[in-house]
Amino acid sequence: MQAHFNIIGIIGAGAMGRGIAQIAAQAGSQVMLFDKDQNACSQAIKDLAAQWDKLVAKGRIEATVANTYKARLSVHAALNDLSQCGLVIEAIVERLDIKRELFAELESVVSPHALLVTNTSSLSVTAIAAGMKHPERMAGFHFFNPVPLMKVVEVIRGVKTSAASCTALTIYAKQMGHTPVQAQDTPGFIVNHAGRGFGTEALRIVSEGIADFATIDRILKDQVGFKLGPFELMDLTGLDVSHPVMESVYNQYYQEPRYRPSVITAQLFAGGLLGKKTGEGFYRYVNGVAELPVEPPPPVVDTLPPVWVSPRASRRAELLSLLKTLGATIETGASPSMNALTLVAPLGFDITTVAVVERLDPARTVGIDMLMDDAQTKRRVLATNPATRADMRDAAHALFARDGKAVSVIRDSGGFVTQRVVAHIVNIASDICQQGICSPQDLETAVTLGLGYPQGPLAMGNHCGPTNILEVLFNMQTVYGDTRYRPSPWLRRRGAIGLSLLQEES
Ligand code: NAI
Repeated sequence: MQAHFNIIGIIGAGAMGRGIAQIAAQAGSQVMLFDKDQNACSQAIKDLAAQWDKLVAKGRIEATVANTYKARLSVHAALNDLSQCGLVIEAIVERLDIKRELFAELESVVSPHALLVTNTSSLSVTAIAAGMKHPERMAGFHFFNPVPLMKVVEVIRGVKTSAASCTALTIYAKQMGHTPVQAQDTPGFIVNHAGRGFGTEALRIVSEGIADFATIDRILKDQVGFKLGPFELMDLTGLDVSHPVMESVYNQYYQEPRYRPSVITAQLFAGGLLGKKTGEGFYRYVNGVAELPVEPPPPVVDTLPPVWVSPRASRRAELLSLLKTLGATIETGASPSMNALTLVAPLGFDITTVAVVERLDPARTVGIDMLMDDAQTKRRVLATNPATRADMRDAAHALFARDGKAVSVIRDSGGFVTQRVVAHIVNIASDICQQGICSPQDLETAVTLGLGYPQGPLAMGNHCGPTNILEVLFNMQTVYGDTRYRPSPWLRRRGAIGLSLLQEES
């Protein structure tokens, strides 16, 4: 197969440049590498050769194929050597002034038809292209690290980028074995924008003293199916990367409250506790392995009180059937008896408010998160209010742990951990659709491939029920009085008429 671009140039032979060089050579292009540091280029050639030799040793490719790939790479000491390139991909230092200078110089080297693209992750493509003679041939081509394994690339259309430039990049991305997604030139593009929901809301929960970071990680992995919890993820990525991205997206959107970063990461970052790479972040690492706090066993309770379930509990029928399976004595009266454990299952509201509004005895009231289908989760989450008696808390904990399922008990907040984080993710994703940054389908693809979520954010919203997500957000907005939780109009419209979040408007 003939590559869409026979000869391409890659400027910057660092982590990203060499990854892009690998998949470009594999796609059949001649790859000309240029770096202001010549050692970076020779090191890249060595590393890539070693990479292909490894694939040969594993029997994944033939030695002749590896040799063909190697022969497609060349190192160049002058930018002028790149004059024959049909495409030049820039992957140099993340500085607007330096990138602009480079593109201005490149325009005087290549033909007017050559595409010039940037792998920037946080700068505006339009801003980099400003001042170019032909900004229509300049686009963002945003790969993820490590490039050969992260099979998605964002094709970013700046204000002046032509549709033909984006089409050519889309074809080439597919030849490289990657899935292209189309994004408008907006802060964080798709992946780094959609990813704001996960970490920032989890950080807020920690900052409110609702649950510690290890508990939040456990809950989100066991209830939603994330491979890593938000704190494990931040430790892995490194706060030197994650915290500036949080600040950058927040500030580029003129302090939009949905993206507000946290003083917790600001402080860890300032203190050099960056995560796994420095041996300590949220977790402490010994020989690269996180020291996880031990989860205490469920309390032993000899006699369990009868249980009364609020008529307003979400998924009430499922909750009652679960209680039956767990062998609870269920009260069916209009109100709880004097010694009953009183269960509520709100969406977005805190347990305190529910106890007050429903005129329940707060000392015996415990909440359970029923946003997710219990049968599909590996953990149940309970919440107390400040007046909940220890014996009632322990009774609820012991009861819900009876079948061996893990149980976490957290403090009262508007929305449980899963409700808060999932609703925030779905809301931000909905706002990406509202702003027309990309199509709903490309959003789902970008997030599942770029962030490794178990489902795309819109599918996650459908799974929980768009009306449930809306209820969580409306109620949290009431509890917190914070516009951070205002539902995106896109979500409101679909939730109101019971439309699937993946259904596009005609
Ligand atoms: P890096 O620091 O590993 O490599 C950058 C390379 O560019 C270095 O070899 C450096 O010598 C060279 N360079 C710097 N200024 C130059 C210039 N004026 N002319 C020629 N070469 C120059 O950086 P990395 O991580 O590969 O990032 C490159 C770009 O990709 C940045 O824009 C970054 O934001 C973006 N990016 C990085 C990702 C990551 O996870 N590392 C992910 C996605 C995008």
